[in-house]
Formats: sequence, structure tokens, C-alpha cells
Amino acid sequence: MSEIVIVRDEVEAGALVANHIATMVQAAERFVLGLATGSSPLAVYRALAELVAVGLDLAHLRCFALDEYVGLADGHPESYREVLRREVSTPLGLPADRVHTPDGSLSGVQSAGERYEAAIVDAGGIDLQLLGIGSDGHIGFNEPGSSLASLTRVKTLAQQTRRDNARFFASLDEVPIHCVTQGIGTILRSRHLVLLAFGSGKARAVAAAVEGPVTSSLPASAIQLHPRVTVVVDEAAAAELAHIEYYRHTQAMKPAWQGL
Ligand code: F6R
Repeated sequence: MSEIVIVRDEVEAGALVANHIATMVQAAERFVLGLATGSSPLAVYRALAELVAVGLDLAHLRCFALDEYVGLADGHPESYREVLRREVSTPLGLPADRVHTPDGSLSGVQSAGERYEAAIVDAGGIDLQLLGIGSDGHIGFNEPGSSLASLTRVKTLAQQTRRDNARFFASLDEVPIHCVTQGIGTILRSRHLVLLAFGSGKARAVAAAVEGPVTSSLPASAIQLHPRVTVVVDEAAAAELAHIEYYRHTQAMKPAWQGL
């Protein structure tokens, strides 16, 4: 069973997850964090930045992003490399070469998947992967229908995802058509998955991911195949969980020695 943690709001979620990451980073000789873009993990990044401001040392931290667009010019403000520079590297004081993104350049994209998988292995694997979830159940850019065993590769974005992301670009035409994304199999290799979801728009996808059948029609349901998953949700995103009373009971009875 995935562990379900129901929080008041994103700020509480951010503090909880950031404190856990900080503890792990301090205890380890090296720690590899998998980053997600989008709104769901922002409170975690803010809380981590606050911990850095009061002395948290991230010298042993390396990060790998989930995904990147294909074909955006180097330095394009909406490339995930740039987004993560603004939201993670700069506020956390991490040198840019310790935050990896798949190579979405037109010249490198053919081998981008293989090289990214090799880089993750070289780094020792991802210790904790942050995930958001799309309202259609996507994780990373693994749209419905993606193989549950997939590794990092080029994917075609769903039209709905392009429309959703058009708000960051001047027009829909400027939203890339392809991306490079960690596969579902890549995500499942991480040692710990932490999926964050807030708001009623995510309620149905969260319930299907946690309690529904494991199916490529809802890529996030693959988290049920992982031995260590923490799903951090607010009340609105938890609203459609059938076993919510049991999750609340589990949370209330959680032994103090169990971390996140
Ligand atoms: C981000 C990503 C996506 C988002 C998902 C939710 O790198 O790969 O799967 O996590 O679309 O987005 P938000 O958090 O903006 O609701």
C-alpha cells in the first residue's frame, strides 16, 4: 500500500517533505533527488530554500529532472533546464552542473534517453523522486498508454498537455510537440517516490492512482508496483479516496520512529 499523508495545505506538505530530504541529505555521503517541474513541488523547493538560508548544507546533493521539451533554443525560459535553474538551482545555491535535465536539443535527442539513464546509474540511482500527477493520471510526460516498463525516451505530448502548457508560451503553436521523459520503469527504479497533489482537480486521478487497477491508461497507477511510496495530498485531492478513514487512522497511529 502507498502511504497516504493528508496535510492541511501545500505549505505543510512543503515543510514535511523538505525536512525529510534535509535529514536524508545530512545523513548520507551522497543523495540524489529527482525533481519535478510544475506547481505541485514548488512548496518543497521553497521550504528547502528556507532550510538552506539557515545553514542546510547541500554539498552532497545532485538532482535529476523528470523531463524536458525537445527543440527549444538553448536558454529558452520555458525549457525545464531554465525553469529548474530559477526554481531550484539558484534558490538552493546548487551549481548548475549538479542539476541534470535530459538533452532536448535537436542534435542530441536521438541518444538523450540512453545517456540520461546512464547518468542516473553513474550517480548511484535516484534516492527520492518527487512527482506531480496530471488530471489524466500522467507522471513525468508519460501520457495514458505509456508502457509501465518504459525508460527515458522521446515522447509525443498529448494535445491536452500542450493546451495546458500553452499558458507559458506566446501561443499554442510555440509549445513543443515532443519531449524527453523518464519512463515509468525509470521512475520505479528510484528508491522512494513522493507524489504531491493538491486541489479537487487532482482528486479523481489520485484515487485511481492509489486504489484503481494498475494500468497504462493511468500511468500514475504504476506507483502501486513500488515498495516505498508516499502520497502527500490536501483534503481536496484526497476527497475521492475510498479508504480515506483507514489512511487517517494509519497516519494518526504512525509510530514516532517511522519517518516520511
Ligand atoms: C513535471 C511533470 C508533470 C507534472 C504534472 C502535474 O515535470 O512531469 O507530470 O508533475 O503535469 O503538474 P502540476 O504540478 O503543475 O499540477
